[in-house]
Amino acid sequence: MLSTEQIDHFLSLNLGEQVSRIRDASETSIGFAVDPGRLSRSVLARHAAEHVLRIRRFRQLDAAATKLIEQHHPEIATPWSRYARSEAVHDRYFLRDLEAMGIAREHVEQLQPFQATEALISYIRHAIGEFGPLPVVVYSFWAEKNSDEGSAPIIARGRSLFGDDAVRGASAHRALDENLNHAEAVTEVLAVLIDSPDKLLAAVEILGGITKFIGLYFDELGEFENARLQ
Ligand SMILES: [Fe+2]
Repeated sequence: MLSTEQIDHFLSLNLGEQVSRIRDASETSIGFAVDPGRLSRSVLARHAAEHVLRIRRFRQLDAAATKLIEQHHPEIATPWSRYARSEAVHDRYFLRDLEAMGIAREHVEQLQPFQATEALISYIRHAIGEFGPLPVVVYSFWAEKNSDEGSAPIIARGRSLFGDDAVRGASAHRALDENLNHAEAVTEVLAVLIDSPDKLLAAVEILGGITKFIGLYFDELGEFENARLQ
């Protein structure tokens, strides 16, 4: 069995490679990954709204993973469900930020997620059928690593465009990731789930699938901005 450190090292390297392939694919992805100064108010606001919609849609997937982990890996059920439960209610943080940006909750409630988000959700749902809880935890790994790497400059950009109040939720979310060591907690769960070379290969494949849908999401966010400007 691989240690948590080995899993972290291997998957982080792989994730870095995968993400480098989508980084320069669009103006929006360059903005998020490299140069947040390019991100407009409307892109940041729509991105925060997408967090709300995605977090809510993931609740079902988290619950499915929790059930399977409780059945098959009770030794990690407590840390996993503690993590999943806390993430599942963080839509509130982003709703408050949106309110401070001048976007009412009623407006967010009427939005539909981008197609890429729906596609990501159904990809993970199908992958649960094939691999059990692994895809959900790999998604969490993706999200936590991404938070470690990229969220500080995005929050700073939001603060400069909208003011402090509009990034309070995002900052609190980021602080939780850091203080509770979310990336490490998720990797520890992965180290138990990845108990064979096949599972390791599956994790890599799933990281690639997730990265593809995140790339498509940035494309769509870019199209949303272009349509707004025309
Ligand atoms: Fe987190």
